[in-house]
Amino acid sequence: MSRKLYIRTFGCQMNEYDSAKMADVLHAASGLEITDRPDNADVILFNTCSVREKAQERVFHDLGRVRHLKALNPALVIGVGGCVASQEGAAIVKRAPYVDVVFGPQTLHRLPELIARRQATGLPQVDISFPEVEKFDHLPPPRVEGPSAFVSIMEGCSKYCTFCVVPYTRGEEVSRPFDDVLTEVADLADQGVKEVTLLGQNVNAYRGTMGQGAEKADLATLLEYLSEMDGLERIRYMTSHPREMSSRLIECYAALPKLVSQLHLPVQSGSDRILAAMKRGYTALEYKSTVRRLRAARPELSLSSDFIIAFPGETEADFEQTMKLIEDVGFDGSYSFVYSPRPGTPAADFADQVPAAVAQARLSRLQSRIEEQFAANSQRMVGTTESMLVTGRATKDTRELAARTDNNRVVNFAGAGELVGRYIDVRITAALSHSLRGELVY
Ligand code: SAM
Ligand code: F3S
Repeated sequence: MSRKLYIRTFGCQMNEYDSAKMADVLHAASGLEITDRPDNADVILFNTCSVREKAQERVFHDLGRVRHLKALNPALVIGVGGCVASQEGAAIVKRAPYVDVVFGPQTLHRLPELIARRQATGLPQVDISFPEVEKFDHLPPPRVEGPSAFVSIMEGCSKYCTFCVVPYTRGEEVSRPFDDVLTEVADLADQGVKEVTLLGQNVNAYRGTMGQGAEKADLATLLEYLSEMDGLERIRYMTSHPREMSSRLIECYAALPKLVSQLHLPVQSGSDRILAAMKRGYTALEYKSTVRRLRAARPELSLSSDFIIAFPGETEADFEQTMKLIEDVGFDGSYSFVYSPRPGTPAADFADQVPAAVAQARLSRLQSRIEEQFAANSQRMVGTTESMLVTGRATKDTRELAARTDNNRVVNFAGAGELVGRYIDVRITAALSHSLRGELVY
């Protein structure tokens, strides 16, 4: 029987991607197969997130829950990776001595080696260094599952927003060489992948070395090259930073039809005072001007964003400005959270923390406003026709199919199974609260 790996992932898309890579690395090195049952596993990994406090505390709670499995299987390996590992390092082994390996987002490719050393020495292994872009060179080729795939093109962040731990846990921005990215996407397209999502903490800060020379390609150049690739029909990217939305990148929305009409562009707040305290590097007006230029290039562009509610010093007036921005831009979705002070970041020492009850009330108001806009945008889609990827059978009624629109809505419609994995034209016939109904257009 094959040996089994269980991974619990917390946090963002980057962590989801890293977890898939951990599985690839351990499959290639020792044939481990993924299981969804920790009690059945030979290796248990926690891929952690420290962006907000709750995510961090959950890790120790969940670690406690698998501890007893070691008594049943002394050979069981328990590992902690991701941003909490990166911040806490050896302190994790101190607090939870049954942990065998601790590794950071940039050292996950060394997992087989760390596990082997743990087994040879009997001592817990900790490696949370930042060995530049080495990680990319040591990952096995991606295993293709289905018509869409993720490709990490850069790592880390050099923006140092005053509230955020990412530059400390993932390191500064490092881009993957241009040719490596092209080769990986071409391989994926050869294996039938039709849609790629380019990933990075600040993906539009991408500056990949071209060939042997000193010349660097930006995201716009990468998108231009990928657009020429046969077989590839859709390109997405996330997450992007408003400050890196260059004119060349904006022009891509006019020039490259394969680029989807959806963009996640975190704004965080609509108040210039708060944006300055966050060190975001733009004003609300500058953000809106970027949006106006994007929509001039691609009128149907749908926008989603990240918001931090109740940053230290946020007044009612500041919050109203955020609400105003949400209406002005017509955001269609959000990742929105109450501000959480992160140890070691400048904002953790700022005065005027907002009371929890006020923060919660603001968050609810913001989220219901965005939900209303989402529903209104769904209504507006009724009667339109869009080319979309058929992702599989519908979950409720398996006689039907499910497809995903550019702006991430599920559309259910009647159709034959052989359409799965293909792009087809579907006309939207009705908008429900969490999905759309449609019909095939021949
Ligand atoms: N690169 C992106 C950008 O341009 O802002 C964001 C990446 S960050 C890891 C993901 C999101 O987590 C942020 O956009 C922010 O909304 C949220 N976040 C980060 N630190 C936070 C904190 N201390 N409290 C609450 N939310 C936080
Ligand atoms: Fe964090 Fe700001 Fe970078 S939110 S990931 S420091 S852009």
